[in-house]
Amino acid sequence: MSSSATFLHLTDTHLALAGVPFARDDHKVKIPAIDGETRESALELLFTRLAERLSRSRQKLDGVLFTGDAQERGQPGGHKILLDLLLHHFEPLGVTTANIIAIPGNHDVPRASEPSSAARYDAFMEVWRKAGCVTPWLDGVDASDSEGGLHRLVSDDGRWAVFPINTSNWSHATQILPEPLASVWAVLPSIAAKGSQDMEAKLRRQLDALARYDMARVSGQQLEVLRKVIEETPRPSSGRQVRIALLHHHLRTPSLREELKPFADISNLEQVRSFLRDRDIAVVVHGHKHEHSVQFEHVYNRDGNKEHRILVVSGATFEAGRESDAARLITLTGMPNSPAASIEQVQIPRSGVELVDLPPIVRRIWTTDVVQGGPVVIQGNSLDEVYERACEAAAKEAANGTLADQRRRDAISAMGNL
Ligand SMILES: [Fe+2]
Repeated sequence: MSSSATFLHLTDTHLALAGVPFARDDHKVKIPAIDGETRESALELLFTRLAERLSRSRQKLDGVLFTGDAQERGQPGGHKILLDLLLHHFEPLGVTTANIIAIPGNHDVPRASEPSSAARYDAFMEVWRKAGCVTPWLDGVDASDSEGGLHRLVSDDGRWAVFPINTSNWSHATQILPEPLASVWAVLPSIAAKGSQDMEAKLRRQLDALARYDMARVSGQQLEVLRKVIEETPRPSSGRQVRIALLHHHLRTPSLREELKPFADISNLEQVRSFLRDRDIAVVVHGHKHEHSVQFEHVYNRDGNKEHRILVVSGATFEAGRESDAARLITLTGMPNSPAASIEQVQIPRSGVELVDLPPIVRRIWTTDVVQGGPVVIQGNSLDEVYERACEAAAKEAANGTLADQRRRDAISAMGNL
């Protein structure tokens, strides 16, 4: 039985066989033998350093969470590059294909493919699923909930479980136009181009883009399959299971930055939020927005008198000028009674230069707010949970100098006598 677990979270790595440039330096002239970095070379350096650090502190990984967009604009190669790098660097630290969870992002599905078609997921499945990684149930590919391998990763003691959810089935979906517009739309470029092939091709692309939407959505069928998968997942012998859901797209924007585009958010968001509440999902980890944030989402029951709190971790990626949150370690502690999540950003290093460890963000997963100066209410689902929380609260007050040592000892001993 383990009270903690550590995962490496990666998202939006945007890799391609041809090499995607990572231009973090200001090269105004071209000099022989000074090659620009690529995204994969930067990631390789990060993985090397992280693996060194973890093995120095004898820390193992319980899994890798990859939330999509391995590829860059549908160019091939990104999935395999990433999987190979992960296994090469982290196999000695406990990572195998069986504890890597991967979901497709909008860059991982070809634009020309129809939603719920096999062609949509070919490249993704060829790498992650074929290797035996945990992947989500895929619309149009998996007929039953048992197809496509296990759609969850659960610890041996059942204290934590991770469930992948595919939000990219309708990415780049083309609207079905009504007649007579559909027929006119098809011939418009050739009529308007007046014989110019370049103009016709450009107009075709622009018109197609007008009818195409980068739509995030989770099908009802997938939610129903997941409902069954979660219900059949082994649970801990005592305490509550910490359930993590992986999505490519966000539940809500991780910052004040506005994105103007149709279907910028999950189109059936309320259905997805209600699903997360009803399935007791405690943590959501996502990518897509390339922004780092850790915030709580509250979903109320139908009567509006009970809230379900979800810790939402939005993972960034690395870009020139933004290299401090290229990956993150997510550590769960205090399971099964008082779990907390610690989120530690991992930066892209510079060759030969040591990284400065950034302080982790730590959040309690199930807790009640304490108002400064107000009465302290300690709740729990069992005496064990109340006891642990009372001890923690007393120790914290003692550390702050607000509770005398003797009283802290009295409080702890009183709780111990319950
Ligand atoms: Fe994306």
